[in-house]
Amino acid sequence: MSTTEQSGSKTASIEKPAPAKGKLGVMVVGLGAVATTMIAGVEAVRRGLAKPIGSLTQMGTIRLGKRTDNKSPLVKDFVPLADLNDIVFTGWDIFEDNVYESAAHAKVLEKETLEQLKPYLETIKPLPAVFDQFYVKRLHGTHVKKGKNKKDLADQVRTDIQNFRKTVDRVVMIWCGSTEIFLEPTAVHQSIDAFEKGLESDDPGIAPSQIYAYAALSEGVPFANGAPNLTVDCPAMIELSKKNGAPICGKDFKTGQTFMKTVLAPAFKARLLGVSGWYSTNILGNRDGEVLDDPESFKTKEESKLGSLEYIFQPELYPDLYKDIFHKVRINYYPPRGDNKEGWDNIDIFGWLGYPMQIKVDFLCRDSILAAPIALDLVLFLDLAQRTPSLTNIGIQEWLSFYLKSPQTREGLYPEHDLFIQSMKLKNTLRHIMGADLITHLGLEYYD
Ligand SMILES: NC(=O)c1ccc[n+]([C@@H]2O[C@H](COP(=O)([O-])OP(=O)(O)OC[C@H]3O[C@@H](n4cnc5c(N)ncnc54)[C@H](O)[C@@H]3O)[C@@H](O)[C@H]2O)c1
Repeated sequence: MSTTEQSGSKTASIEKPAPAKGKLGVMVVGLGAVATTMIAGVEAVRRGLAKPIGSLTQMGTIRLGKRTDNKSPLVKDFVPLADLNDIVFTGWDIFEDNVYESAAHAKVLEKETLEQLKPYLETIKPLPAVFDQFYVKRLHGTHVKKGKNKKDLADQVRTDIQNFRKTVDRVVMIWCGSTEIFLEPTAVHQSIDAFEKGLESDDPGIAPSQIYAYAALSEGVPFANGAPNLTVDCPAMIELSKKNGAPICGKDFKTGQTFMKTVLAPAFKARLLGVSGWYSTNILGNRDGEVLDDPESFKTKEESKLGSLEYIFQPELYPDLYKDIFHKVRINYYPPRGDNKEGWDNIDIFGWLGYPMQIKVDFLCRDSILAAPIALDLVLFLDLAQRTPSLTNIGIQEWLSFYLKSPQTREGLYPEHDLFIQSMKLKNTLRHIMGADLITHLGLEYYD
């Protein structure tokens, strides 16, 4: 046990991750704005045309040892991650557009960039999707699988995975599809057995995203969820994930407004400043905005966006400061802005003796530019988790909460939403699996 600033357990005896040998196949569900921005971005980086800004796996460093040791390698040089040159993409969509056409439609990346990448992007053509308009009201899919029941559809996705697997060494799946209607776990989600019976009987509680997730986890493929859908957030999927050594994490990429919230809220709490209201509104004009214009899909997003403050502020511990916060989140579909969202926050805070103050945040962000590196990092870290003996069979990878609006945790454990706690947790997990000292930032040994 080391008792320096790096205190905590030194985990030298731990079995380190296996090396990232060969090709990593990335199966993306939904080749829309986020997915095509990630794929085009990876290709641009591979060709030396751009830098992977926003990606911890590509640009981040990790401090090892004491501050005086001056040892901070790149994350990707410290843990054995798949190299970008070894990534092979494929995916599904309800439209037949290839990745070039879909990226052009999404209008996130400039035309000149896309033209340079066109020959590669055109080669990625979506497989027919599992889709049911009941779960995403605003979309009308044409490129969809037909099957006699949900079990049949899951088997077809499993066949897609098996076929792809013949061409690569390892596979990870990530949902970059649209936000589905709000669903709560029911009896069908409580065990693998109940879920499989539900697939046979076409249980309405099973949405398409769960059919993909079930297929992935059954095939031993790790699964990440970029949307707020229920998907793997239920006992049946956790059981399957553990059983087959296919790691899962939380849901909904933490990009714009919630990213800001999980930075600002911990700062107010750290300084014991009270909050009486937090009003957040957004204008957004991409297809995601159109889907979220449907109240049933918005409800799913709203739940995911509302969750963070409650956990960060812990009103039960600080009733004088946070008991009566009025928290509201709105998303308005406004086509002229496309993917360039604008998010406003009005925060009513109060300080010494209860005197009120206000903070206004106006974030003119680019949704998919923020989401793409998150999607890439999740894929690379889930692949690492699967190659790591101490992580592969634990199911939920809580250390990946850093990237997600709705972190997933073991039952009965409240989620950590504070971005800086999440960042420490992630980096300490990497130190832990590599047998390095954990860093607690105590640092008294410098003054001995
Ligand atoms: N961009 C961000 O900052 C951000 C942040 C958090 C979460 N998200 C979520 O990520 C998801 C993707 O966002 P986007 O901006 O790329 O949206 P998008 O509408 O551009 O792309 C979604 C794609 O998924 C496809 N799709 C829908 N249902 C499908 C199914 N069952 N099978 C296969 N494909 C399906 C759609 O046809 C579309 O091409 C959304 O759910 C969004 O809420 C995005």
